Amino acid sequence: MQSPILYHSNVEQIQDDEKQTHHDLEQALLQIMMTTSQNYGHAVRSVHAKSHGVIEAELEILQNLPPELAQGIFATAGRHQAIIRISTNPGDLLADSISVPRGLALKVLDVEGTRLSGAQGSTQDFIFVNGPVFSAPNAAAFAKNLQLLAKTTDKAEWAKKALSAVLQGAEKTLEAVGGESSTLQTLGGAPNVHPLGETYYTQTAYRYGDYVAKLSLVPVTETLEKHTGEKINTRGRRDALREEVAEDMQSGPATWDLRVQLCRDLEKMPVEDPSVLWDEELSPFVTVARLHADPQVGWSAERAKIADDHMRFSVWTGLEAHRPLGSVNRARRSTYALSSAYRADFNRCPIHEPAKIDLP
Ligand code: HEM
Repeated sequence: MQSPILYHSNVEQIQDDEKQTHHDLEQALLQIMMTTSQNYGHAVRSVHAKSHGVIEAELEILQNLPPELAQGIFATAGRHQAIIRISTNPGDLLADSISVPRGLALKVLDVEGTRLSGAQGSTQDFIFVNGPVFSAPNAAAFAKNLQLLAKTTDKAEWAKKALSAVLQGAEKTLEAVGGESSTLQTLGGAPNVHPLGETYYTQTAYRYGDYVAKLSLVPVTETLEKHTGEKINTRGRRDALREEVAEDMQSGPATWDLRVQLCRDLEKMPVEDPSVLWDEELSPFVTVARLHADPQVGWSAERAKIADDHMRFSVWTGLEAHRPLGSVNRARRSTYALSSAYRADFNRCPIHEPAKIDLP
């Protein structure tokens, strides 16, 4: 296997038009939030608005990791308090019969090291979704999709339900002929799977101390694994996902492995284009930490209030050693800040990085 690529600022290539792209993204996100906050009388995230799981957890960083994996927060074995927020990607609060990709945001508390500029508190956030690649090759291409999506943000759920049903059929047909369309999945063509059984990926690349990596979170205990591939019955159940997660997290202790895939070839494992799959034959994912959760209510209205309104998760909250890399990650800096600031302002609910987690 090739040696891992060493991190250097020139693993990124910044384009001339990025400021304009960030502006376009901010406008589209604002349009979504202004529509939804008027509809709900409350501001929700401009994407990943609906939470389905709010889980107290502990991240155990493994001992005796080899030097290339003992980097950043993973350089010191030990345990950190953590919180997980499971969501689905639309910026409006849709019925769960509309099948959309799942997201998992992880906040790790009390980490030490030089912080990214503007990162408050002493937390390290990692953000994942349940697919290995992003739907667009760069932020400019994503901005075009988002501008289209912003126009569909309203209360016309019947149209989204119809679209989702059509897209799920289309996705099946595509799978049958051996293809899979990430665009279809983003728009509602994803199978309606149980969020606890899924494997989650960062999709984009991060600095990993001296190296560059993508991360993933894999269910490894019975409590979670038994839900892998399970389709949720959403008939007549608008909030089926949170009902299932609330109940299923009580059935036993749960553990996910946190795995790292080091970049070993900048051509075949590009940093700038997250729509390219990093081949696991070139560099396998290796476990560096375990995320444990004791049996608990996986979602409740009180918990959601804390994670949805009092918290934000951003890839730009954390250490310089885990700097987000590439066009899409650069575009996430101002956009996540804008979305959480809008929520805090509209809801009159200030957001701070937590120093401890104590969920009801
Ligand atoms: C240019 C591309 C992207 C933009 C503009 C964008 C924008 C946003 C915004 C504005 C939020 C809400 C922030 C808040 O109000 O706190 C958000 C949340 C989220 N995004 Fe992205 N995003 C992008 C790419 C991605 C990618 C590549 C992933 C894949 C892991 C991702 C996964 C998520 C998840 C899971 C959340 C929910 C976090 C939470 O629970 O608070 N996003 N995104």
